[in-house]
Amino acid sequence: MPDKVVVLSGSGLSAESGLPTFRGAAGLWREHSWMELASPEGWRKHPQLVLEFYNERRAKAWAAEPNAAHRAIAELEKHFDVAVITQNVDNLHERAGSTRVLHLHGELGFARGTGPGRKRYRIDGAPIELGQTCEEGTQLRPDIVWFGEETRHMEEAAGHVSAADKILVVGTSLSVYPAASLVEYARPRIEKILNSLEMDSVPRGFEFLPGQATVIVPRLTARWSGCRA
Ligand code: OAD
Repeated sequence: MPDKVVVLSGSGLSAESGLPTFRGAAGLWREHSWMELASPEGWRKHPQLVLEFYNERRAKAWAAEPNAAHRAIAELEKHFDVAVITQNVDNLHERAGSTRVLHLHGELGFARGTGPGRKRYRIDGAPIELGQTCEEGTQLRPDIVWFGEETRHMEEAAGHVSAADKILVVGTSLSVYPAASLVEYARPRIEKILNSLEMDSVPRGFEFLPGQATVIVPRLTARWSGCRA
């Protein structure tokens, strides 16, 4: 069996594809209020505003291209058993070629109704308009996990992390829970790398590699893959 590699990614991975992060100087939550745009309360108060915000993000994400770091992560599948666990709602991992991707916070490319049914509809880059309904007749909303809603795939993700032989955490401030708690499932003696531009605190046992993902990640994955040769 090939070694198992787990990648846990965040918005910094897509920053060099032109998509904004959340908390940096130019972060989305500096300019916009997450309470208004990423919560069930905000959706009840002004759905039009929420739809516009996600329609714009979806359009930008669909116009963006995967970068060298996304591609290097996809290439790992040639050498390892790879699971990508992402907080990102874009589809740049998939478009780079990664085949096993768990989206903890939902996906821009899907919509769902607002009733009890949880059926998802693939919309890709298309906008969701007010008045557009699902089969049950309820308003369509982005299939995104908002604050106060349940993070997806946590059990499966924790299983991957606890079985990993190598872990790469990339482009996340690890400030949103429960996603950030996944690093705690890593076994003590495996190689654990964290790449971001800066980090307030690095989880125990992780080696911090500061710098741009498009530089650091291909270098790291080349080393890991070379070790297998
Ligand atoms: P943050 O904005 O909190 O953190 C982005 C991280 O990426 C920071 O550590 C940056 O240093 C790093 N970074 C920025 N550019 C980079 C680059 N070119 N190369 C490498 N690292 C870079 O974003 P997330 O941790 O993804 O949730 O945020 C987590 C969640 O908070 C999101 O999924 C979203 C948000 O609220 C929901 O909407 C539910």
